Amino acid sequence: MNKLITFEGIDGSGKSTQIKLLCEKFDELGIQYVSVREPGGTQISEKIRDILLDKENLELSSTAESLLFLSARSQLVSEIIRPALKENKFVICDRYTDSTLAYQGYGRGIDTKLLRMLNDYATTKLIPELTFIVDIDENTSSQRRKDFVEDRMEAGGMEFLSRITQGYRKIVSEEPERCFIIDGSADKPIIFNQIWKIINEKYQDTK
Ligand code: ADP
Ligand code: TYD
Repeated sequence: MNKLITFEGIDGSGKSTQIKLLCEKFDELGIQYVSVREPGGTQISEKIRDILLDKENLELSSTAESLLFLSARSQLVSEIIRPALKENKFVICDRYTDSTLAYQGYGRGIDTKLLRMLNDYATTKLIPELTFIVDIDENTSSQRRKDFVEDRMEAGGMEFLSRITQGYRKIVSEEPERCFIIDGSADKPIIFNQIWKIINEKYQDTK
């Protein structure tokens, strides 16, 4: 059992909001943790993030895109996540391996079996103990993001988003022990209570 908790969901689903609430709760209780986001979280991974999200990089192929996400993840795992887990800290990650399955796999159409192998390679098989998939529909997502400038990934359109939403639901059905689907259209504190209850149940015997 490890202490890696990941948050997944389409853009605007409320991941950052819930992560902030979780960090506040951990702070309040004096629980040690590290919170990171993907792609990013290290100096090198943040540089890769810039390439990935830059709207001018129109010629970036789906294969190159996938490998860049995986490179950023590999660096983050070896530089930050593994060392933090070794120190017995919780690691909260805003997106992780399931984003690659959902976006590059179900969204872009790359073979998910291949992506699972590449995820294993990039993370040296570090699988999260707990994954929250914050589920909202595409319309809610675009409504919530209407006042923000779109990045390269967000410019993919509604059909792309819809495939990703379905992909996430499929991932949950395939790995129900690890993945919990959370209704992201509920009120923020209600969502957080559900998340906190699941974390408590999972780690009740952990010090
Ligand atoms: P993400 O990190 O998944 O992209 P954010 O947490 O940044 O999403 O939320 C996107 C926007 O939606 C923010 O303006 C946030 O305040 C709002 N939001 C988040 N959760 C909810 C919720 N449960 N109900 C209504 N609005 C929400
Ligand atoms: P970000 O702004 O961090 O996400 P959010 O809008 O949810 O706060 O942008 C990261 C983008 O990269 C997002 O559109 C999802 C996408 N992504 C992938 O396509 N594959 C991946 O493996 C990861 C980690 C992210």
